Amino acid sequence: MSEQKTVVVIGGSGGIGRAIVDVLMKDEFIVHATFFSQDELLHKASGADRLFWHKLDATEAVAVADLWKVILKTSPTINGVVFVATLPTAYHPLMKLDWKDFTAHFNVQVGTFFHTLAALRENLSAIGPCQFIPILTEYCQGRPPAGLSDYVAAKMALQGFARTMVAELAKYGCRVNMISPGITLTELTSSLPPKFLEIAAEQNPLKRLAQSTDVAAVVKFLLSEQAAYLNGVNIPVNGGSTVQ
Ligand SMILES: NC(=O)c1ccc[n+]([C@@H]2O[C@H](COP(=O)([O-])OP(=O)(O)OC[C@H]3O[C@@H](n4cnc5c(N)ncnc54)[C@H](OP(=O)(O)O)[C@@H]3O)[C@@H](O)[C@H]2O)c1
Repeated sequence: MSEQKTVVVIGGSGGIGRAIVDVLMKDEFIVHATFFSQDELLHKASGADRLFWHKLDATEAVAVADLWKVILKTSPTINGVVFVATLPTAYHPLMKLDWKDFTAHFNVQVGTFFHTLAALRENLSAIGPCQFIPILTEYCQGRPPAGLSDYVAAKMALQGFARTMVAELAKYGCRVNMISPGITLTELTSSLPPKFLEIAAEQNPLKRLAQSTDVAAVVKFLLSEQAAYLNGVNIPVNGGSTVQ
């Protein structure tokens, strides 16, 4: 790689987030990654002088603005921001629906992207060209299952926001591309019944569920020169469980 690129991974401490951090570290990126509850990451110098861990509640506008002040001091040019944060999901069928679950998911999904853009809007031309990569879900493309309406509605709202930003951010030299993973074996899905996961894998055309590294590889591709003309795409990473 000719020039060292800097990427920020919001939610870098989760299953998919760690895989993204790992693949970018191997590819010589400078990585700023955030965690929410996993404080031990603050003390891990796993990436020597190229990996910086930051504690962040991404739903807090002031915290996000402060984070960007810190990041831009060390890294004035940003090539990518990957939005990976999520709340744990829970089965909430109609009879258990609560508005606070909707707002909680909305605050993490849309709030994280909104607060970041608000913190950067004065600097967008200067920091880039930057690519924003929200991680959605295959439920934004295919049929969502029962009981996840709070999570899916927040992801669809994030998708709508991101799609609008494709047109708005281009004049600053910025791009927006999305990734929609299928069920991926991480902490988020570890509470699902093993039988459910087994059936989901069996029903997948490739007969397996996604690994975090499958998603990370697509992030790496989007950040490469080969993907320079991609803008506004939503790439499914689901083995063909939704066919476009
Ligand atoms: N796993 C799947 O099957 C799957 C499928 C499709 C899409 N996705 C999407 O892929 C992304 C990653 O999923 P995952 O499976 O890796 O989830 P995960 O392991 O549960 O990780 C969630 C991440 O979000 C962070 N986080 C939680 N609340 C936060 C807050 N208020 N502010 C900032 N960060 C916060 C967590 O930080 P701490 O761990 O430090 O608390 C962690 O880094 C999510 O957007 C998810 O919706 C996942």
